[in-house]
Amino acid sequence: MDEFGFIDRSGSNAEKYTLREKLFGTKEVEPMWVADMDIATPEVVLNAIGERLSHPVIGYEMMSDRAYESQIGWIRERHGFMMKREWLSYSPSVVASIGCAIRALSDEDDEVIVMDPVYPPFYSMVKNNHRRLLLHPLQQDSEGKYRFDIDLLRSQITPKTKLLLLCSPHNPIGRVWSHDELNAIGSLCLEHNIRIISDEIHSDIVYTPHRHIPMASLSQELLENTVTLIGPGKTFNMAGFSISTVCIASKELRDAYEKEAGRVHFGDGAVLSHVAFETAYTNGAQWHQRLMEHLRHNAERIEVWAADNPAIGFRPPEATYLAWLDCKKMGLGDRELREFFVREARIGMSPGLSFGKEGSGFMRLNFAVASEKLEMALAKISGALKGNGYV
Ligand SMILES: Cc1ncc(COP(=O)(O)O)c(C=O)c1O
Repeated sequence: MDEFGFIDRSGSNAEKYTLREKLFGTKEVEPMWVADMDIATPEVVLNAIGERLSHPVIGYEMMSDRAYESQIGWIRERHGFMMKREWLSYSPSVVASIGCAIRALSDEDDEVIVMDPVYPPFYSMVKNNHRRLLLHPLQQDSEGKYRFDIDLLRSQITPKTKLLLLCSPHNPIGRVWSHDELNAIGSLCLEHNIRIISDEIHSDIVYTPHRHIPMASLSQELLENTVTLIGPGKTFNMAGFSISTVCIASKELRDAYEKEAGRVHFGDGAVLSHVAFETAYTNGAQWHQRLMEHLRHNAERIEVWAADNPAIGFRPPEATYLAWLDCKKMGLGDRELREFFVREARIGMSPGLSFGKEGSGFMRLNFAVASEKLEMALAKISGALKGNGYV
């Protein structure tokens, strides 16, 4: 059996499939939007779950030190960041942790820096918690690579600016921030007493030669100034286990976070998630290596395809399994663009505008699928482009 071959999820409650009609107005679309993979969760994880189920009691269980140590080891080996057990706590969701950290480390009406375009809950978490968005536009350089503008950002900061919400690596643009970039933005935050919430959920889906650098690993000052959010959801395709961790080295920030988390009571998580978490970080390395080869192959395939379809601009991502397709040459408005892909290509992608104003004219395609499915989707898009004169 092909480990990364086609999997039919249409009969499950997969959000990607279930919400098709609501989002795209029809079930007749290949859903390539939500950022999970149409790829089986590693067999070692599924087997460990089976073994745990041979014990008949599914009660309250603690997340064990061994489970935390499995993640500490993984992060140390891959990203050179030495986390300590006491810095870590369980969270059911990175987005929930973002909300908690925002409330813990800022006051109502404070400003939170968010880089546009970005994963949509970055905006809603700021707004829903009654903070103000300080939007920093990411811009493409002459080679199409997205950059932030540190001088512009410096000029945007006010005395009300208290937090930076960093997406590292960055969804949807697929950037892996370099050492110099992280240093520049980290130093600016230290200068202005701005705390950093660094969402590093995509940090294991990084293509060589790029290397993820945890913001908190850059210096002692940045370690003390950063809340890092990490989890196995993207790495091992196990978002459905709802398990992640929050890493806070500073006792002051950790106490503030924990006080806030205590208000909603995250508890210690679910038994089967603990098993999945520990197994994946302990025994998932080989699977993950094969996964990365598969994803790289798919990204390269899109690159070749895009060269034959000049209406679509594509720069292979440095990280993530998300292709950020530049459709501006098609000359359509955002609504027409989205409808074009639904009606003419029958592919359900995330519209660029849903990631912010700077996403206008883009579509995000999730390529974590079997290669034959990707081939089919690309053929459908080519057909629609050619059929409508976009060549
Ligand atoms: C940047 C980013 N953060 C967080 C999440 C979701 O994390 P969780 O499911 O743990 O809330 C996603 C999912 O796509 C994401 O892209």
